[in-house]
Amino acid sequence: MNNVTIFDHPLVMHKLAILRNKETTGKQFRELVEELTMLMTFEAFKDMPTIKVLVETPLESTYQYMVDNKSVAIIPILRAGLGMVNGVQALFPTSRVGFIGLYRDKVTLNPCEYYCKLPDNITSGISVILDPMLATGGSAVAAIDLLKCNGAKRIKLMNIIASPVGIEKVHSIHPDVQIYCASVDRQLNDDGYILPGLGDAGDRLYGTK
Ligand code: PRP
Ligand code: URA
Repeated sequence: MNNVTIFDHPLVMHKLAILRNKETTGKQFRELVEELTMLMTFEAFKDMPTIKVLVETPLESTYQYMVDNKSVAIIPILRAGLGMVNGVQALFPTSRVGFIGLYRDKVTLNPCEYYCKLPDNITSGISVILDPMLATGGSAVAAIDLLKCNGAKRIKLMNIIASPVGIEKVHSIHPDVQIYCASVDRQLNDDGYILPGLGDAGDRLYGTK
């Protein structure tokens, strides 16, 4: 799976094990989602372009390299993707944030769009779509479709847990999009939930059913 980067760093695996545990509280769950996202962001943006700048140290001038924060567009898929935003913003404090509202129809599992607000910099910079769960792949494909229709060219997809069918679906339709995740789990159950997974990410983040 060339287009998938799996973060099997011991710290990522450790945090993911706690995240999956049904006894983990909402507060811990939110903190872990944020921490995992920050760890994954560090690696996922290692291909980011840098700009050469002249810096005056207290002793002399030196050429150094910096990134352009403003070229990053963070696009959480509502609701659960919201829990990942702070993890990316911690590293790119002046990035722009857009929102795509999607929910899965309970019977068909197809995504239904209810909101879309995207920043202008998607056309020139790097857009990173955030969603903790890539299950059937329907929501991710719909989000990528929306971004491309609005002019986005460089798109990354960041999930915490992905399923094999979800990855396959995204790559069959959008082979240019690199997927970053902490784990590829075994399979989906009959209700479209990832096994072993972590349950319903939105419900665990926000305490709803
Ligand atoms: C969950 C999850 C993804 C989607 C993944 O959202 O956060 O957006 O399901 O499933 P898919 O890959 O099969 O499309 P959900 O629709 O439950 O909405 P919520 O975040 O508002 O709970
Ligand atoms: N959405 C979730 O929140 N969890 C899953 O396992 C699948 C979709």
